[in-house]
Amino acid sequence: MKKPDIEKSLILTALGAFLIFAVGAVMTTIVPPMVDKSFWDAGEHDVHEYTEQELRGIAIYKSQGCVYCHTQQVRKLASDQRRYGWRLVEAPASESWEYVNDKDHFLGTKRTGPDLARVGGKYSSEWHWAHFKDPRNMGEKFESPNGAYQSASIMPSFKYLSDDEIKDLTAYIQTLGRNKNWRKDADGNPLNDYEQ
Ligand code: HEC
Repeated sequence: MKKPDIEKSLILTALGAFLIFAVGAVMTTIVPPMVDKSFWDAGEHDVHEYTEQELRGIAIYKSQGCVYCHTQQVRKLASDQRRYGWRLVEAPASESWEYVNDKDHFLGTKRTGPDLARVGGKYSSEWHWAHFKDPRNMGEKFESPNGAYQSASIMPSFKYLSDDEIKDLTAYIQTLGRNKNWRKDADGNPLNDYEQ
């Protein structure tokens, strides 16, 4: 009997390629949550339940495309943990259980701006108010070669949002990263000064 020449058969080559791809897809997407429950179950952890106002904030975050510039995932890299920490306390890497109450996921892939996964509590809600109204008026200014002072931020202004919308958005931003009590005061006690 003549053996089929696989390389000459388009159907067999395509089938073989698909099978190899399928093994990879199943092993990386379907098997992990079956083996490790923490992908979808928060277990003992007390995960924040979003209020009505925070849910409205999530809808605004989604509609304004904040995810195009901001990620929400601190990776297990020293540079990430240091950069997104708070007053020399390193930010713990994000864990899957922290997201179980999220219906919209804003993990993101691009960091034009900083990661926001641990930004809750980093600034007061008044700071966010001023920042959303006019990001370029915040933070450092630097002198450009032609002598003019330029503002450092390239974040667009969201001053066209109504005052209530900015409050809702801020309420949501202040929840980010708060499932873990990771910020510590000078005596090492956990801080949970959750500003509304
Ligand atoms: C075009 C890109 C871009 C978009 C869109 C954008 N941002 Fe930003 N964002 C930045 C940059 C750059 C910074 C850093 C400079 C600054 O603080 O303004 C920043 C900073 C921030 C900070 C302060 C983070 C920190 O740790 O200091 C917050 C909070 C924030 N953005 C929230 C938002 C929200 C909410 C939206 C959507 C309504 C949004 N951003 C949309 C680029 C963007």
